[in-house]
Amino acid sequence: MAEPFGIGLLGCGTVGSGVAKLLLEQPGRLAARAGRPLVLRRVVVRDPRKPRDVALPPGVLTTDLGEVLGDPAIQCVAELVGGTTWARQAVLQALAAGKHVVTANKALLAEHGAEVFATARRHGRAVAFEASVGGGIPIIAALSQGLAANQITSLQGILNGTCNFILTGMTENGSAYADVLAEAQRRGYAEADPTLDVNGTDTAQKLAILAHIAFGVDVLPSAIECRGIADMQQADLRFAQELGYTVKLLAEAWLRDGQLALHVSPVLVRRLTPLAQVRGAYNAIHVVGDAVGDTLYYGRGAGQMPTASAVVADLIDMAIGRAQRSFQTSRLWAGQEAGITLLPAHSVRSRFYLRLLVVDQPGVMAEVTRVLAQHHISIASVVQHESLDEHEGDTVPLVIMTHTTLTGHFRAAVAGVDRLPCVMAPSVYYPVAD
Ligand SMILES: NC(=O)c1ccc[n+]([C@@H]2O[C@H](COP(=O)([O-])OP(=O)(O)OC[C@H]3O[C@@H](n4cnc5c(N)ncnc54)[C@H](OP(=O)(O)O)[C@@H]3O)[C@@H](O)[C@H]2O)c1
Repeated sequence: MAEPFGIGLLGCGTVGSGVAKLLLEQPGRLAARAGRPLVLRRVVVRDPRKPRDVALPPGVLTTDLGEVLGDPAIQCVAELVGGTTWARQAVLQALAAGKHVVTANKALLAEHGAEVFATARRHGRAVAFEASVGGGIPIIAALSQGLAANQITSLQGILNGTCNFILTGMTENGSAYADVLAEAQRRGYAEADPTLDVNGTDTAQKLAILAHIAFGVDVLPSAIECRGIADMQQADLRFAQELGYTVKLLAEAWLRDGQLALHVSPVLVRRLTPLAQVRGAYNAIHVVGDAVGDTLYYGRGAGQMPTASAVVADLIDMAIGRAQRSFQTSRLWAGQEAGITLLPAHSVRSRFYLRLLVVDQPGVMAEVTRVLAQHHISIASVVQHESLDEHEGDTVPLVIMTHTTLTGHFRAAVAGVDRLPCVMAPSVYYPVAD
């Protein structure tokens, strides 16, 4: 068998210890797949006294990155630390030291991909990052290899297991947002500080990476319009159900006539579609290509072993030399692909769900529809339940589903509706996927 492929792990937390487990417990399987042994030579951590999820061989654990960078028997570094400070420096130094890099760090690639990839190219090294999006789902390989003959025309993904777990719990059990979030934290799905998950940032970072692979566009997460689920209310989940929809936090990309629309938002998805059926902490991505048509990828989007599965797949690709060959030709993060521009949010066409809290009196519906009509919004359906209370001046929810319209027109209409004296609270609205 060919010479061993030496690996240095940076980080031995949730994902790092999963990777170490696979390398130490499945050497035969991995060597057979890679055509050479994968050898774990060093593991860099912050605190060497911390108990680990895996029994590391003596002498492997260190706090000194230099021991990895200076070891000629290490060909590849797996960065499983996270964040964009220490990890960024470590990755840049590893590339400069002539190591290939495998990473699960979506924040690093989404924010500093251009720098990381340019450094890799300068030093003739490769970067692989299957685990950065969709955990154990091989979506990067699907887009860059399996679907390479296609122009991707759309992509819709449930990319954050925490948010999907919360929305599923709220929808199926009628639980309050805070209660399901606490349950997600108890089960280890949500971080102690879940802000980046629930405000959509994590999903936007993953969408930025997918947009690079699928459409060749350079886009930072901050350029993607992003709405999370932190203000999700039971009322909207119930109305969505009544109308035949389920609410999902989606990352969406649509390519039309050379213009690419990207956004992250809770979206009403028809209840019988595959994405609507994705429950709990699972992820799924629906990708449409011009030759292949519809494809769907589903699986665990996070967690120790699913994420380790993706990291080790990249390590095997590096050991074979396949990742290096594809990296050279892919030109990722190397500049915007000619012909594709980003479509501003106000020009995106969509249907919308709109919930108003209105005074329960005659003439209200006419006032609301007049404002909508002024902004060219046509109504597809209306739900207003009979008020249980006969007292004049009470408020009732009024739910409107629109036909397809420009987002800019719709938002201007909502601003107008919210100024009506009969509307008693800021309106709530979400896009509808059909
Ligand atoms: N967890 C998941 O399910 C998941 C899924 C997909 C992608 N990811 C990504 O995978 C990466 C790792 O996530 P994780 O959940 O495994 O994180 P984690 O459990 O917090 O582990 C982080 C590891 O990095 C080490 N570390 C932190 N700062 C360091 C420093 N300055 N020097 C040396 N080592 C340092 C820590 O050392 P100590 O142990 O000594 O503190 C720890 O072993 C992140 O980029 C994350 O976004 C995670």
